[in-house]
Amino acid sequence: MEYIVFAIIAYLLGSIPSALLVGKIGYKLDIREHGSGNLGATNTFRVLGIKAGIIVTLADILKGTAATLIPLLFDVEIYRLAIGVFAVIGHMYPVFARFKGGKAVATSSGIILGIYPLLFLIMIATFISSLYLSKYVSLSSMITGVISVFVSIFFKDIGLIIVVALLTAFVFYRHLENIKRIRNGTEPKIKWM
Ligand code: G3P
Repeated sequence: MEYIVFAIIAYLLGSIPSALLVGKIGYKLDIREHGSGNLGATNTFRVLGIKAGIIVTLADILKGTAATLIPLLFDVEIYRLAIGVFAVIGHMYPVFARFKGGKAVATSSGIILGIYPLLFLIMIATFISSLYLSKYVSLSSMITGVISVFVSIFFKDIGLIIVVALLTAFVFYRHLENIKRIRNGTEPKIKWM
């Protein structure tokens, strides 16, 4: 029963479409009609600029972190990594935005931050290095996912390995269009790094 309640809370939290809210409230603009059309941090940076991008990045990370921390407030013995996965499902398929959400990157990292902060830091370092080398946010997101699966082995928690592998599979699935664009050379590169 506890699992169902906390999974629903996590899903609803993940469903909060921060990119849509920041765009509509702060800029009177529907971000789904601009850039890649994705409701995520990268497209927010692209369309609305650095301030909005940082807000959405933090909000999307926090959704995942909060989903893993809420059970602690109630002193409930529960597998919090599994609960966090529902925040990512909410982020990808948000009930508050016609089930068309983001690509699982920031919210997935937020779950890891809530439970394995050291792994989160390794993921951030991996992402920044990949971005510096490749200039593709999407490719860096996928590379970070794959490397995180291998790094998670060192944390000796089989559940962590399974969840990170699942989240990485979500990230790849949500980046199929980006993969096509990378292959045909039309994926945009960042210019400021
Ligand atoms: O986090 C999403 C990012 O990896 C790609 O976003 O808008 O370039 O498709 P976008």
